[in-house]
Amino acid sequence: MLSVQTAFYYGGDYNPEQWDESVWAEDMRLMKKAGVNYVSVNIFSWASLQPDEETYDFGTLDKIMNMLAANAIRADLATATAAPPAWLARKYPQSLPVSIDGTRLLPGSRQHYCPNSTDYQRLAAALAEQLAFRYRNHPALTMWHVNNEYGCHVSECYCETCKAKFQVWLKKKYGAIAKLNKSWSTDFWSQRYYAWEEINLPGKMPAQHNPNQQVDYKRFMNDSILDLFKMERDIIKNYTPRIPVMTNLMGLHKPINGFMWAKKMDLVTWDAYPDPFQHVPYEYFMAHDLTRSLKKQPFLLMEQAPGAVNWREQNAVKTPGQMRLWSYEAVAHGADGIMFFQWRASQGGAEKFHSGMVPHSNDEDSRSFREVAALGQELKKCRELVGTTFKAEVAIVFDWENWWALEQSSKPSNLVRYASELGTYYRTLRELNISADFVPFEEDLTPYRVVLAPASYQVPQSFTEKVKAYVRHGGIFLTNFFSGIVDLSDRVYLGGYPGAYRELLGIYVEEFAPMKKGQVHQIATPWGDSSIRIWEEYIQLRGAGALATFKNGYLTGMPAVTSHAYGKGQAYYVGTHPDTVYLKHLLIGIMERTQVFPPLSVPEDVEVTVRESHNIKYYFILNHSDTEKMFAIDPIFVDLLTGREESRLIKLAPRDVKILRAEKEKISYEKTD
Ligand code: GLA
Ligand code: ZN
Repeated sequence: MLSVQTAFYYGGDYNPEQWDESVWAEDMRLMKKAGVNYVSVNIFSWASLQPDEETYDFGTLDKIMNMLAANAIRADLATATAAPPAWLARKYPQSLPVSIDGTRLLPGSRQHYCPNSTDYQRLAAALAEQLAFRYRNHPALTMWHVNNEYGCHVSECYCETCKAKFQVWLKKKYGAIAKLNKSWSTDFWSQRYYAWEEINLPGKMPAQHNPNQQVDYKRFMNDSILDLFKMERDIIKNYTPRIPVMTNLMGLHKPINGFMWAKKMDLVTWDAYPDPFQHVPYEYFMAHDLTRSLKKQPFLLMEQAPGAVNWREQNAVKTPGQMRLWSYEAVAHGADGIMFFQWRASQGGAEKFHSGMVPHSNDEDSRSFREVAALGQELKKCRELVGTTFKAEVAIVFDWENWWALEQSSKPSNLVRYASELGTYYRTLRELNISADFVPFEEDLTPYRVVLAPASYQVPQSFTEKVKAYVRHGGIFLTNFFSGIVDLSDRVYLGGYPGAYRELLGIYVEEFAPMKKGQVHQIATPWGDSSIRIWEEYIQLRGAGALATFKNGYLTGMPAVTSHAYGKGQAYYVGTHPDTVYLKHLLIGIMERTQVFPPLSVPEDVEVTVRESHNIKYYFILNHSDTEKMFAIDPIFVDLLTGREESRLIKLAPRDVKILRAEKEKISYEKTD
């Protein structure tokens, strides 16, 4: 049995080894003031823990762990394997990764290891074992933090070790080389292989790469890096079976297949760095929902910046209220903890201008520290939210392998980007206050009333069958252009596009007509004309009806958006990239048809989501605007943060947040079906 989270976590990466011990006492005092109850330690300490291959020195870490225990602060203890010491690189130069142009990357920053290096693996495993053994009964130990942001800087390696391992991986996957040749379509351009040893990594080549070789390489690299995580996890589990083990993910991080990784972790966490110059950073908000969906469980926001980061071209500071609002954004979508990078801003090193919870001034009256401390105290009231669930009636299909396949070169248009296509639909739902889960192709679709699968270019046959059955039984399905095109070997489903969905959608796409970059055309819709970008195509109706038509060039008057009754359900197709004004109309119609409504009716720019326990519903209401908003509610709610009963009229200050709590039996308009 895993130990259970009992408090709402608040804290951050804590790197006291960068500071004189005299600063530590001040840290403890300020942590108390800020309500910190949880910190991540030891993330980048390998070089100080191990001066050479034979010697370990845990003196400083012992002191840190003991200090945390004495101050009742929980430790998320890292295994410190994300930045190997310089001696390791010197002694085992083959452990350094090689980039696509053949350059061996140097130590001196971080993540300088080849995932398939057996020297790195052996030494990382040994360190993890030392730590697990030493701290297995330590009272501060609350969670294990394996490595740090796997694949953040180095997600590909082109060294000889990786090449040999890739050949082994392929052999295991395909068994016979003839199968690989078929899957990689190697009769094209004389690429046929006769021996596994002939196969290279997809490094620099004269012309376009073999697409499926590239996707297999991404699968292989993801597997190689995941093996590193599993290696450390298995060692740790031997010593501390009850302590949860995870690594911090990065949301919409292309190289790391989140659904696959989540199965190997006890919980999921992620690091969110939205750009404060953006008013509502939907792409980051989408990643909260994606991260929660990985395990369909609450997650931890493991890192965010209290103010500015230091790695963009210009680094905006979070203005008053922004950090609090975006922290609650995470909570509203399923976070059970809010953490920062990092506790105290570093004095030296590459991240010294990255904000910390404690600024260089150490000024506890500074605006940033006051906001950090106020939030920490306020979040103590959120304890009862821990473990509450988030339910969605809409699913958006998300698949990493499809993402890899879609964004290879040699496509009709490189303007088709996965995150941005999904983001367009996500954002539209968000503006309607309709919550969504993200689901992989393998997921059971029956709990959802509506399933959206934008940019689902590479579709397994099993999904085609599943989604047909889903719609036949009354489900609503929507997909868009350049979806349902190829199988898992990146081979086109023949007989007319979109092969995987043709019958279900009742259409036949005869040809693609991608648009020029920046070009804007129009479609005619029941709500007037709307702008489109990126893509047009020649759609023939084969049972579907047109909901909108193109208005430019040779496609004028032809269908652009279609709808098809299939069994008891309906399948929609959007053959272009419309603006959100049109998508909103379209989605409102679809949602009304299937009775999916926002949880409360609130003004524009106000967001509402729900988390629930068995008997209580928590309505999160977030004002993303800079003006006060007013709206009416049933007078049955208590404000979790103030403890006050709410009257019928709610006034929400700019950027303010309310968490309204009500017992389910009092919610009269609760749906009964
Ligand atoms: C990542 C890393 C941290 C730090 C922050 C800075 O999330 O995990 O160590 O570098 O970025 O934003
Ligand atoms: Zn390598």
